Amino acid sequence: MSDIETQIRDALADIQQTDSLDALQALRVSLLGKSGSITAQLKSLGKLAPEERKAAGAAINQGKVRIAQALDERRGALADKVLEQRLASERVDVTLPGRDGARGGIHPIQRVLERIAYIFERLGYQRAEGPEIEDDWHNFEALNFPPHHPARAMHDTFYFPDGRLLRTHTSPVQIRALMGRTPPVRIIAPGKVYRSDSDQTHSPMFHQIEGLLVDETSSFADLKGTLAAFVRAFFERDFEMRFRPSFFPFTEPSAELDIRWDTGDGSERWMEVLGCGMVHPKVLEHCGIDPERYTGFAFGLGVERFAMLRYGVGDLRVFFENDMRFLRQFA
Ligand code: FA5
Ligand code: MG
Repeated sequence: MSDIETQIRDALADIQQTDSLDALQALRVSLLGKSGSITAQLKSLGKLAPEERKAAGAAINQGKVRIAQALDERRGALADKVLEQRLASERVDVTLPGRDGARGGIHPIQRVLERIAYIFERLGYQRAEGPEIEDDWHNFEALNFPPHHPARAMHDTFYFPDGRLLRTHTSPVQIRALMGRTPPVRIIAPGKVYRSDSDQTHSPMFHQIEGLLVDETSSFADLKGTLAAFVRAFFERDFEMRFRPSFFPFTEPSAELDIRWDTGDGSERWMEVLGCGMVHPKVLEHCGIDPERYTGFAFGLGVERFAMLRYGVGDLRVFFENDMRFLRQFA
C-alpha cells in the first residue's frame, strides 16, 4: 500500500515539474499508457491476497484519477504559457513607421497642359476634343489649305495608306467645334499632334492647345490682350515677348508669339511658343457661319515649349525619355 502511495506522490510531483507539452505527453504514457507504471499496478492486483485486493484496487484507481486530473491541469497551464510566449514574441509594434509604396506623379507635360487649360477655363473657354486620326478635309481642306498648297509641306505629315493622317495640329478641332453651331463659340482643345520632326525644340509627337473664339465683336487687339494676359498668368513673372507677323492659310492676319529664352548654356534666343490670328472668312464659310456677321480669333500653342520655359529645360526631348531621375523632380 505504502508503495502505491509513494508512487502516486512521485508521479504528481513529476507532473508539476514537467515544463513542456511534449515531456508531459511522454510522462502520461509512462504512467497511464498500456505498459505504464500505474497500469502495471492494476495488472498486478491479481497477485495480492483477496483481503488486500479491494483496498489496494480502490487506492490505485483513486490515484489514477488524481494523476489524470493533474496531467490535464498541467497541460492546460503549459498550453497557456506557450500561447502567452507566442503573443509576446509576435506582438506588432504599432508605433513603428510604415513601409511606403512608390508613389507616382503627374508627368510635367500633363501638369503644364492642365495649368494652361485651367487658365483659359477661368476665362470662360470650354473644353473640346477631336480625334488624333483625322481626314484630309478637317486637318487641311476646311482650314483653307487647297490641295498641293505649299503650306502643307510645312507640316511633315504622317499618312495612312487610306489617305487619313495623324493630325498635325489641333486646328481641325476648330472645324469640329464650329460645324452646326451658332456663335458665340469659345473653346480650347488640348491634345496630341504628330509631325515627322525631331531636334532640341521639336518632337514627332507633341501637345498643342487650340483656342478659338467666334462672336460679333472680336478683334486682333482682343487676341493680343488675351494671349499677353495668359502668358503673364502662366509664368507668374515677366518674360520678354514679341508678336511676329506670320502666315497660316486659316487665319488672316496671322502672327506667331516668341518668348526670350535662356537656353541654359549661357546664350539667349527667341523661342516660338504659339501661332495665332483672326479666323479666315473661308474657314467660317466652310462651317456654315456668315463671315459678314461674325469674326473670330484662334491660337495654337505648343505645350512642350511652355514646359521648357517654365521648368528651365533646355531640350524638349528629355520630357519623353522617361528617366525617373528627371521625372521625380516634378513629383
Ligand atoms: C500650328 O500648328 C497652327 N495650327 C497654330 C495656329 C492655330 C495658328 C490657330 C493660327 C490659329 P505651328 O506649326 O507654328 O502652328 O505650331 C504651333 C506651335 O506648336 C509652335 O509655335 C510650337 O510651340 C509648337 N510646335 C510645333 N512643332 C513642334 C514640334 N515638332 N515639337 C514641339 N512643339 C512644336
Ligand atoms: Mg510655327
